[in-house]
Amino acid sequence: MRARPWIEAFAPATVSNLGPGFDCLGLALRARGDTVRARRRDEPGVALLRVVGDGGALPCDERNTAAVAVAALLAAHAPGEGVELELDKGLPLGSGLGSSGASAAAAVVAVDAVLELGLPAAALVQAARAGEAAACGADHADNVAPAITGGIVLLPSLDPLRLVSLPVPPSLWLAVYTPGYSLPTAKARAALPTAVPLSRVVQQASRLGLLVHALHCGELALLGEAITDDIVEPARAPLIPGYLEAKAACCEAGAIACSISGAGPTTFAIASDRGRAEALLAILDEAFAAAGVAGDGFVDQVGGGARVTTGLLH
Ligand code: HSE
Repeated sequence: MRARPWIEAFAPATVSNLGPGFDCLGLALRARGDTVRARRRDEPGVALLRVVGDGGALPCDERNTAAVAVAALLAAHAPGEGVELELDKGLPLGSGLGSSGASAAAAVVAVDAVLELGLPAAALVQAARAGEAAACGADHADNVAPAITGGIVLLPSLDPLRLVSLPVPPSLWLAVYTPGYSLPTAKARAALPTAVPLSRVVQQASRLGLLVHALHCGELALLGEAITDDIVEPARAPLIPGYLEAKAACCEAGAIACSISGAGPTTFAIASDRGRAEALLAILDEAFAAAGVAGDGFVDQVGGGARVTTGLLH
């Protein structure tokens, strides 16, 4: 029998929260991400055959976020169909770059193409959320939504799921630095307060409003003012050695903003051109190295969402 063809999809790294948008705002990067290959099989359900690039840390079975997301997709939209997957991890685990979300996003986009389902983005995001729930216990959508749609996405409602694409200022550059350790999202979520004073909620809500306004105006200075977080950042900063020093150094050097990417420890700083972003990256590297947790970073811009990267692979 002729082997079934593979289809490959790529999903980008994402920066979520962006200061005041905890669990409801995120953006897609361009440079890095995860890749998933998928093909039909006769037996119903999903089988993950291979995971590479994770140093053996991830389960290569139905517990993997890619497989969980595809199982949710099949259950909702293609019961009785069967697919096999291979996952190539381009993103570090527990980094705050939406690593689990990128696997889930690439997997659902690959399977949507293999089965020729043509599902809308919201249905793909919904399925990918099941992968996030498996990864950290919460089906937050602020990584999988931008990983699937690209751009900067706001999630004003989860049930029903609503995705709102926000304008991307063309001069928006990010320095993105991942210190040399991982922080499981579940641990970073466990550190969060369960109750927050109303005055702080009001402040956070007004900043999120300002952030949306800043994106519509394309004013990076206003965006910088908006990327301030007095609820989540103070709870997580103690879990991220070097973060406060790195942020202080970036602010001192004129960063438009600096905050934790998703659950951390990746830290991002915003600049208005590539050269300034590279200077901020060097500052982040120096600060985290001084804290004994040197890692790796890159400069990037907001990019597109998950996509099929090849035709049929035999
Ligand atoms: N919004 C989520 C969090 C993102 O901050 O926990 C996790 O990557």
